[in-house]
Amino acid sequence: MIDLTPNRSDLDPIEIASIDEIRSLQLERLKWSLRHAYDNVAMYKARFDAAGVHPDDLQELSDLAKFPFTTKGDLRDAYPFGMFAVPREQILRVHASSGTTGKPTVVGYTQKDIDTWADLLARSLRASGLRRGDMVHNAYGYGLFTGGLGAHYGIERLGATVVPMSGGQTEKQVTLIEDFRPDGIMVTPSYMLNILEQYHRMGIDPRSSSLKVGVFGAEPWTDAMRREVEAAFDMHAVDIYGLSEIMGPGVANECVETKDGPVIWEDHFLPEIIDPETGAVLPDGELGELVFTTLTKEGLPMVRYRTRDLTRLLPGTARSMRRMAKITGRSDDMIILRGVNVFPSQIEEQMLTVEALAPYYQIELYSKGRMDAMRIHVEVLPAATAPEQREACTKQLAKRIKDIVGISAEISVGEPGSVERSQGKARRVVDNREKG
Ligand code: DLL
Repeated sequence: MIDLTPNRSDLDPIEIASIDEIRSLQLERLKWSLRHAYDNVAMYKARFDAAGVHPDDLQELSDLAKFPFTTKGDLRDAYPFGMFAVPREQILRVHASSGTTGKPTVVGYTQKDIDTWADLLARSLRASGLRRGDMVHNAYGYGLFTGGLGAHYGIERLGATVVPMSGGQTEKQVTLIEDFRPDGIMVTPSYMLNILEQYHRMGIDPRSSSLKVGVFGAEPWTDAMRREVEAAFDMHAVDIYGLSEIMGPGVANECVETKDGPVIWEDHFLPEIIDPETGAVLPDGELGELVFTTLTKEGLPMVRYRTRDLTRLLPGTARSMRRMAKITGRSDDMIILRGVNVFPSQIEEQMLTVEALAPYYQIELYSKGRMDAMRIHVEVLPAATAPEQREACTKQLAKRIKDIVGISAEISVGEPGSVERSQGKARRVVDNREKG
């Protein structure tokens, strides 16, 4: 793989500023943001008052711990526009994310918010190893989802050529990549595997593609998956993180020269890690729930928003700002099987160690008598369909999951193509347990 490390002179100065400089900018911006939320959003005023705190109580960054959390439920209660901090006429765009239940979460952006987003996405792409003049194939879905349009304007802001492909039409994805010869691709990691499979179906060697880097996010993926995709396409795979409530893609992005976890763009978002049970702030390095406070957002300021994403904060390396470790999972994706906590990413890691298996999986939960049980659906590679090979895979995977994850799972090894393919964010868990 070629070296794509950006020139230091191309970075935004704040990315490599001193920690003191970053902290003092954060404090100044945090004061503004708390005041903005309190003065303009009824929910924040009521919450702060009830908790007996006022924006003036914030003298240093650690004072933020005195302020109440915000949750997805708060946004739902305010559906659709009740948490906007500016008159609706100043909102230039809305996006929405559909949760698994109930109404979607609606977010809104002023002109300045849209500009900041494009700037931070451009910064993220630069960190990924892309630059002005490159071409980027954008296969994140366009529409209410923040992925497509968020990436789109960032690619343009970088000064690169955007191919606004959106998701789906997998054969056309491959044709356009082959014909246009883009330098980079933006897509969910699970859909990238779908594209990989299409390469094989069309008899084209993915390693001969023009792609130098893939910027993958919107769902958890493991380092094992990174190695798999990097080897298959002979390109760099970097992690982009974000969520609609805080902005969309580009809240944090990995640096191609280190690939050691997404750097949080701390000049705009202040991260905290909390104990999800007690809400107590944990020191950097400890695993817990990621919480964000926006520092510059006008349309929808967020104070201590609980992401449900589990990770740790790590010191800066390629940039001065802190990194987050790759996300282990969401607290609401965690499966508790007979008392053992399991995340789909742990299953993914083990599955990818079994050579004869294709990189697709889905976890099914079902009832076995009165107990919960897990069945893992995987499939063999086309070259390994003989019964003895299947049996060997089944045994190997069951053993690894038992030894390393610590649970007994039934393994169902299907034909090539039998596992559901992702069209965007993969559906990793299917719950067929009897209710009641
Ligand atoms: O998924 C924004 C996005 C689009 C990020 C494209 C990156 C690329 P939502 O639909 O609101 O926004 O979903 C946000 O997705 O809280 C995480 O649980 C998960 N997620 C996003 N990026 C990553 C990542 C977009 N790199 C939710 N690793 C977040 C793991 C991720 N999980």
